[in-house]
Amino acid sequence: MNSKIIIFDTTLRDGEQALKSSLTVKQKLKIALSLENTGIDIIEVGFPISSPGDFKSVQEISKIIKNIKICSLARCINKDIDTAAEAMSFSNLFRIHIFLATSKLHIKSKLNKNFNEIIDMAISSVKRALKYTDDVEFSCEDASRTDIDDLCKIVEKLIKSGVKTINIPDTVGYTVPNELSSIIKNLFERVPNIDQSIISVHCHNDLGMAVGNSISAIQAGARQIEGTINGIGERAGNTALEEVIMAIKVRKDILGVSTGIKHKEIYHTSKIISQICNVPISPNKAIVGSNAFSHSSGIHQDGILKNRKNYEIMKPSSIGSKEIKLNLTSRSGRAAVKYYMNKMGYQETDYDINELYLKFLKLADKKGQVFDYDLEALAFINTEKDETEYFSLSFFSVQSISNGLSTASVKLLCGDTTFIESATTRNGPVDAIYQALNRITHLPIILEKYKLIAKGKGKDALGQVNILVKYKKRKFHGIGLATDIIESSVQAMIHVLNTIWKVNQINEKLKNLKKI
Ligand code: KIV
Ligand code: ZN
Repeated sequence: MNSKIIIFDTTLRDGEQALKSSLTVKQKLKIALSLENTGIDIIEVGFPISSPGDFKSVQEISKIIKNIKICSLARCINKDIDTAAEAMSFSNLFRIHIFLATSKLHIKSKLNKNFNEIIDMAISSVKRALKYTDDVEFSCEDASRTDIDDLCKIVEKLIKSGVKTINIPDTVGYTVPNELSSIIKNLFERVPNIDQSIISVHCHNDLGMAVGNSISAIQAGARQIEGTINGIGERAGNTALEEVIMAIKVRKDILGVSTGIKHKEIYHTSKIISQICNVPISPNKAIVGSNAFSHSSGIHQDGILKNRKNYEIMKPSSIGSKEIKLNLTSRSGRAAVKYYMNKMGYQETDYDINELYLKFLKLADKKGQVFDYDLEALAFINTEKDETEYFSLSFFSVQSISNGLSTASVKLLCGDTTFIESATTRNGPVDAIYQALNRITHLPIILEKYKLIAKGKGKDALGQVNILVKYKKRKFHGIGLATDIIESSVQAMIHVLNTIWKVNQINEKLKNLKKI
């Protein structure tokens, strides 16, 4: 049996139909191009009869996408099939995908027909579609709840009538892995002409089993997997294609199949689709979640630093993502602290790991997550009351006027000399005081982030200010905590100044300071 798995993406059809608002033609084109670039074999780009907008986007996509096959959905209705063909007429590589329910439940309560009528409708629609293309796919909707004798019967007739791909959808996400593999095995054993078509599966995730079901179908002989990137789709979504693709790659030893996907494009494509569709990816989502390659517990961090294979079954770079991330939290051990200090260029002899680790734990308890630049500050400045700090605040005052002007004055002790400066701006009191400080230090600091968080509740709450600044291509983090938020802002900036002073030895720059 062929070992190539065809990847059929329906992000623009099954995925899009579940979004809160439909995508524009331009957005769909962007997604289609990104899927093409990832090496997906075939993309279902819409259901053209469903709306003029859908027709238009299928048409535009069919003008642009030339390297992979496109496909459109149609019911067993002549007008649907004709419209699907018309929408894709700019492409010379297209498939028509027809679907009709085959389960007793759907046939009776949704379509009010009998099974023979279903067969007739299906065959006559296939004939119509074959007038436009020899690539016709047929989906037996609700196949996983279809009586197996009925399923074998209709599949045989469909193949005989010229269907190249038979899709077995688990439309309501009801099946479990060995059940779906048994359906596929039955088809292979009982349908005499089965070798003349590709068997595909299309699973929904209502019980969280879409990927597991798809993998078990592959093991039973299915050679096309349908799904969406990030698993978006009706209700709980469709099979997450990136998960199936990586399972095929990582577990080639037992699955013995492969895809033509450019794995390194997966991360990027997933991000683009999440942004365009406005569907955020949960942090713990397999393969593409932000935590998928980050390690938190001290034992895991230590293990991964000794040998990545201890806790890593695939490299983040294999999907085009960044290198491993060790979350610096109170659960981290010394190994992770040393790792980040080393990454920033410090030798173990440059600092005292025991002292640093204790300070790190204290900060992690306070702050939750600690960053590499925090470690640098902890290692080289004394965060306890420190008489040796170069900069310290003597006094400040701010005045904000309703006409929008704010004026701030600040008196700063630099070593053993005191400087005083003031500034007026239209950007509020924090900007005014930062400008006044800058008039004293003249350091080319760029404020990148400023965050004010209330610590505690009600009138007793303290204002914690966290800032991130850029100085000579390096980032520095400052924290200030006080009841007055201007004071916390000043403290945060002074924290940064002291770190820069200690880390970068800026004495030269400060020689030019103007004395009062
Ligand atoms: O879930 C389903 O059954 C479908 C078919 C149209 C393939 O989306
Ligand atoms: Zn579906």
